Amino acid sequence: MRVIINEDATRVAIEAANLIINLIKRKPNCVLGLATGSTPIELYRLLVDAFSNGEISFSSVSTFNLDEYYDMTPGHHQSYRYFMDQHLFSKVDIKPENTFLPECSGKQSAEEVAKQYEMEIKRRGGIDLQLLGIGENGHIGFNEPGSSLASRTRLKTLTPNTLEANSRLFEDGEFQPTLAMTMGVGTIMDAKQVLILATGTNKSEAIGNMLLGSITSACPASILQMHPHVTAVIDRDASIDIENSDYFELSESNRRKL
Ligand code: F6R
Repeated sequence: MRVIINEDATRVAIEAANLIINLIKRKPNCVLGLATGSTPIELYRLLVDAFSNGEISFSSVSTFNLDEYYDMTPGHHQSYRYFMDQHLFSKVDIKPENTFLPECSGKQSAEEVAKQYEMEIKRRGGIDLQLLGIGENGHIGFNEPGSSLASRTRLKTLTPNTLEANSRLFEDGEFQPTLAMTMGVGTIMDAKQVLILATGTNKSEAIGNMLLGSITSACPASILQMHPHVTAVIDRDASIDIENSDYFELSESNRRKL
């Protein structure tokens, strides 16, 4: 796994944005897997800047988000569709029909929505680059600890830890969904390339386990050790639990010299 340790969250966003900008330049009709949450917000701002400067266009790009809360009314301000519109989709030239989230109303069959989602990813040629954040408990997407490492898109129950971590985004007394549709670990592993971001000391244990822990569903991100093309871009705070972080820094510095 390529590990890039940056001084701070701003550098993490710049590094990650450059990887995505280069991919879009190389393959204008690429398929991006996207994440929500606090971590990628600055990265999305930089992608919007790159679009505004005329550096890249999203006109042929397709996107598939990792997850969406179950049974959200369309346009709900807590939905991940709303988040993506606010931070990226409404600010670039992406075609709305090329943006996908695993949206499922309570009236639909979650199995059917999940099956269609997987089929649409395949129909578009698979995900070229999957962007990920990581939960404090090592989740990727909403694949909580205990998720099958071969899982596909499905409905999941969020853990108390995830609900607590995300409660900061909800007003006091506001309904917080406890179920979400998420790509499976297997779906994520099918992406041609994975870019995982982490910032802050609260992510350091999960990052340590992801990189050098056993491959176990107790830390779903640990399965990324089996993926041939993963780049982890993290800040120094998120690196403190990596046993041999010096080695990763040396390795990255050599890579840049060669
Ligand atoms: C978001 C997602 C989650 C987040 C993770 C980190 O679509 O699938 O796995 O990436 O919970 O969230 P933040 O970035 O808010 O710390």
